Amino acid sequence: MNPETCHTGPVHLASILAVDDAAANLQVLAGMLKDRGYRVRPVPSGKLALLAARRDPPDLILLDINMPDMNGFAVCEQLKADDRLRAIPVIFISALTEPLDKIRAFSTGGVDYITKPFQMEELHARVETHLNLRRLQVELEYEIEQRTIALRKSQQQLAAILHTAADAIITIDAMGIIKSVNAATERMFGYTAAELIDQNITILMPSPYREEHDRYLDSYNVTGIKKIIGIGQEVVARRKNGSTFPVELAVSAVDHLKLFTGILRDITRRKELERDVLEITSREQRRIGQDLHDSVGQELTALNILAGDLAECIGTDDSNESKLVERIVRGLRRSQKELRTVMRGLLPVAVDTEGLMAALSDLADRIQREGKVTCTFDCPEPVTVADNLDATQVFLIAQEAVYNAAKHAWANHIRVSLKSDQFLVVHIRDDGVGMSTRPTENHSGLGLRIMRNRAAIIGAKLNIQPAEPTGTLVTCALLRGNHETKPD
Ligand SMILES: Nc1ncnc2c1ncn2[C@@H]1O[C@H](COP(=O)(O)OP(=O)(O)OP(=O)(O)O)[C@@H](O)[C@H]1O
Ligand SMILES: [Mg+2]
Repeated sequence: MNPETCHTGPVHLASILAVDDAAANLQVLAGMLKDRGYRVRPVPSGKLALLAARRDPPDLILLDINMPDMNGFAVCEQLKADDRLRAIPVIFISALTEPLDKIRAFSTGGVDYITKPFQMEELHARVETHLNLRRLQVELEYEIEQRTIALRKSQQQLAAILHTAADAIITIDAMGIIKSVNAATERMFGYTAAELIDQNITILMPSPYREEHDRYLDSYNVTGIKKIIGIGQEVVARRKNGSTFPVELAVSAVDHLKLFTGILRDITRRKELERDVLEITSREQRRIGQDLHDSVGQELTALNILAGDLAECIGTDDSNESKLVERIVRGLRRSQKELRTVMRGLLPVAVDTEGLMAALSDLADRIQREGKVTCTFDCPEPVTVADNLDATQVFLIAQEAVYNAAKHAWANHIRVSLKSDQFLVVHIRDDGVGMSTRPTENHSGLGLRIMRNRAAIIGAKLNIQPAEPTGTLVTCALLRGNHETKPD
């Protein structure tokens, strides 16, 4: 039965195979069905019925039960065993009226049972019903087949897109278990898909992102608040060989499936470029600072000494000359102080490994001397930082946080602390009014944004949170040994 014609095709074209060994019965049955517009093929035995059905499968079979050689049940069983013929509806027509015969007829696969002698109207009604059912079934199967083809095609397209994507695409469930990964994930992390599926996503994260992720998921499962949803977060990822690298992460939630999809882009190259730019800038600043120190700075020092000598020669009387020299000495000292401030901006951290400690201590002293707020520096163990770029950026982040606390917090005390274990950690805590939680879109200050940018460039984690019982706590933590580590 062709589904494309069965909507519109006339019902009287349906083909029926009528099977009965009694020639007279067969003739009557075939004649009556032809009169009602069916295409009928009468056959006198079970074997011929099977041959005819295989050669040209009919839309419906009317099958006598009691026949020599091969009875109707056997014919029906063979029809049902044949993939091509299985779906053709078989209606038994028999003089047998025992319930057991009827049960057997249905159990071998018949769809209906009509007892002889039959009423032509009844037979016609049943034939029509089963032809219609069959037609609907064929339509449905055709529809399912078309949809399956379309679905498979779109799945193949999707798989091809996922497979060829340069970014790693990973889906996890609400418990953080990996459900799917694409080919880029395998390339990026060095695991095969089979090694990743059903593992916790934390397998791809180093500490402390791993512990943080567990906390995010726990909190999401309790509160429903999705903290990690969003684009453009920079995090550190971990390969199978233990090496780590920076990635940009975009996470979206597929709520109805309770799944999260993460897209990860390896930004090692971008980070290297950002770092190079920063390094070149810092180097250039350092050079200008040193030049200033060696030229103008030395000149000023020499002039200061000369002016001091001149003042001594003239003596400390009330003459105009001595007042003039005193003004020159004061002016020179002022210039020297201003030059030092400029140089401190250009050379914030001394290039030796203890420069960060010294610079933070100096910063706290300076704030303390300004006298608006007390400021202490706390560093229980000596901390050395070999990379001056890292040290400088950490210092500048701390400096902005300290200035912010001094400017905005109305604090009594600011505490700067430095410690180092697996991470280099600087805390800046004030006991002031705390930061406003209101959105600050219209805010024109740049400090916080620059702090975040500096942290991102050196791969540090920056956290700004309310302090207990009042005030603000700024934490900057940098994984020691840099963000691009060697394998374990
Ligand atoms: N420790 C703090 N306590 C209270 N408020 C703070 C603190 N740090 C920052 N803020 C608030 O956050 C805002 C943004 O700080 P940000 O450093 O970006 O800008 P700014 O200090 O106003 O200007 P800029 O740093 O560009 O000179 C501040 O204006 C202030 O309202
Ligand atoms: Mg500021």
